[in-house]
Amino acid sequence: MILITGGAGYIGSHVAKQLLEQDRDIIVIDNLSTGFQRTIDTLQKIKKFDFINLDLNDFEKVVEVFEKYNIETVIHFAAFSQVGESMQNPMKYYMNNTVNTTHLVKCTSVYGVKKFIFSSTAATYGEPTLKGSEQTITEEFDTEPINPYGKSKLMSELVIKDEAKVNKDFKYCIFRYFNVAGADIHYEREELLPRVGEAHDPETHLIPLVVKTALGKRDAISIFGEEYDTPDGTCIRDYIHVDDLADAHIKAIDYLDENESDTFNCGYGYGYSVKEIIDSVKNTMKCDFKVIKGERREGDPSTLVSDNTKIKEKMKWKPKYNDLGLIIKSAYEWEKNLK
Ligand code: UFG
Repeated sequence: MILITGGAGYIGSHVAKQLLEQDRDIIVIDNLSTGFQRTIDTLQKIKKFDFINLDLNDFEKVVEVFEKYNIETVIHFAAFSQVGESMQNPMKYYMNNTVNTTHLVKCTSVYGVKKFIFSSTAATYGEPTLKGSEQTITEEFDTEPINPYGKSKLMSELVIKDEAKVNKDFKYCIFRYFNVAGADIHYEREELLPRVGEAHDPETHLIPLVVKTALGKRDAISIFGEEYDTPDGTCIRDYIHVDDLADAHIKAIDYLDENESDTFNCGYGYGYSVKEIIDSVKNTMKCDFKVIKGERREGDPSTLVSDNTKIKEKMKWKPKYNDLGLIIKSAYEWEKNLK
């Protein structure tokens, strides 16, 4: 049995979807604070599973889940993920992200769970300084997070690693995500119709915001800073399709049967600027909309691009949707039908 925490959220729901399509047995825990019941209902149509509406801070109830089910793998997504909010309310992040992860890791040890797959972030690297000819960030870079969100995730990584040092039956796979985007690649009568996708409240991420603007749900998109040290002056990010990212998690389940615990970057290894994303939405969706010049956002590094050599070589991970047009189209089709 595979336990997914945060399975009603953006990335968790894509992993759940892929596992259900492979007819695997899963249980989902989610407190629906940022995830949605409608996402659970959609997933139940692929294959029935037990959904437990539960906050991970309810330690007694979490223990009951481990008592009841024979859990072999935990895939842990449940967390808060807004950098700005974490600066305003750090305790919210340390309690939910670090304390609850620590308790979950303790349960895995007590109940003999063999594999722990953890959703971490490129925010653990902070503002990496690229030296000489370096263009991308490897897993060996120093981890110096600059906000409580990144720190809460890095501390969770350390907890997981320490448990693995003393518990030889416990293996982990930590994924450091770069910029996750797009929605379920699912076709009906040859039309792209995502069943699950991204929905944050408030939305802060670039691609969903640009797509909302293209759909007329917002008046304009604001570019946060045009004087960065990049070719067009706007920030560069490595956008990875959520279904490719989900596939890495599924691969990790079997990978850990044969291999040692490890940490992997998840990205495509090349980046696009904010202006390139905006132009690409205009071109792909054949539309125009208002773009305004905004202030820099505090804590935004100019360039964040992964070196993905390790995950490709060790895990044999092969991206299938590394096509910016498809990322944007799937995000657009999902957003179009989002109430
Ligand atoms: N941006 C704009 N206008 C907007 C929104 C964003 O110009 O309205 C810019 C941002 O300044 C940034 C880029 O678009 O340069 C991407 O911003 P996102 O908010 O989409 O993503 P981030 O790169 O800030 O954050 C992502 C993840 C975080 C993770 C971080 C790692 O969402 O969870 O990468 O640095 F922590």
